[in-house]
Amino acid sequence: MSKQRKVAKRPAGEAFHWVAKGEGQTTGSSPECSLEEFRSSEWRHLPDGGSDTNKDYYFNSYARFGIHEDMLKDQVRTGSYMRAILGSAELFQGKTVLDIGSGTGILCLFAAKAGAKRVFGIECSDIAGHATTIAKQNGYGEVITYIQGKAEEVELPVDKVDIIISEWMGYFLIYESMLDSVLFARDKWLKADGHMFPDHARLYVAAAEDADYRADKIGFWNHIRGFEFSPLSSMVLQEPISDIVDESSLVTPPCCVLELDLCKCSTGDLDFLAPFSLRVARKDFIHSLVVWFDVTFGAASPAVVLSTAPSKPGTHWKQTVLYLDEPLVAHCGDAISGTLAVRKNLQNHRDLDVKLAYELQGEVPKPSTIQYFRVR
Ligand SMILES: C[S@@+](CC[C@H](N)C(=O)[O-])C[C@H]1O[C@@H](n2cnc3c(N)ncnc32)[C@H](O)[C@@H]1O
Repeated sequence: MSKQRKVAKRPAGEAFHWVAKGEGQTTGSSPECSLEEFRSSEWRHLPDGGSDTNKDYYFNSYARFGIHEDMLKDQVRTGSYMRAILGSAELFQGKTVLDIGSGTGILCLFAAKAGAKRVFGIECSDIAGHATTIAKQNGYGEVITYIQGKAEEVELPVDKVDIIISEWMGYFLIYESMLDSVLFARDKWLKADGHMFPDHARLYVAAAEDADYRADKIGFWNHIRGFEFSPLSSMVLQEPISDIVDESSLVTPPCCVLELDLCKCSTGDLDFLAPFSLRVARKDFIHSLVVWFDVTFGAASPAVVLSTAPSKPGTHWKQTVLYLDEPLVAHCGDAISGTLAVRKNLQNHRDLDVKLAYELQGEVPKPSTIQYFRVR
């Protein structure tokens, strides 16, 4: 498994210089100002990250450009949607399309370019205003209309749409609970013979050898600068880690634990309990279960699969790693079986509670063990 991507960090304790001395002096006034002046001055040219009507932290996070940059730069993600939509021009030609959570509007632009007659993008965050400017800039001002608000609360100027497009997937597929909003929109606006892009989603689990990274992420908490921090390590275990898993660390083939037909499923299907069974492919230690997903655009021709598997090129979703309390000693042919139960957290519906029950049958058996995790 690779380490987390390195980010250039400011050395601890180093202060920011608000304005570099002697630079940026174009007005004749001093480029320096006190912290109070700085705080009280108006910076109208900077984008407003959140208005009074938009207090929800979740939506405000999508008003920032950085998060959209990460998504747009994700070649697998954005490229898959582009291939699926532009490759289906016959389907989109003359149709009315709805994008749930349109963000900067990239999927709406694909739909318009594919020949859609009208495209509506519903977006709750303030990025919606910028998306309107971009649509006009690209000559689609007459085709694309953005509606700022929550999908659950806004009105559309049409009764029904032919196609719903949406990029709603979170870590662990369903973290963030955005799929709830897409299913709400489907039930309200999609024609009976309409299409969903994507139309299927699957969640997979496999077992992995992961000694070095486990030592770095979990073992780290045992001793810190001469102090005993071990009470935290059991807590740390409850937080799944999002990271790129090397395919070679997988010790079993994957098992599909959730399959959603996005044309038919309901929000009730998103809390689930699934049995799994994994057959060990080589003698090794097992430190974690690794979870990933794929989505399929089955209505596209040819069908497109957006996969976040360790065997495929990396995406910003990476994979989700659930560390086991203790490593398992596994031999080729051993069976790891159990159940994975997932539900929305009762206090914060965007977080996920995960209950993992597993046992190993083999040369060094491990009796049934239960662990709890929170994806947040
Ligand atoms: C994962 S981003 C995708 C953005 C864009 N479609 C793209 O592909 O780059 C999801 C977007 O959906 C918006 N969103 C999430 N839930 C929503 C809801 N219930 N109503 C309106 N917008 C929502 C978020 O603010 C965010 O901009």
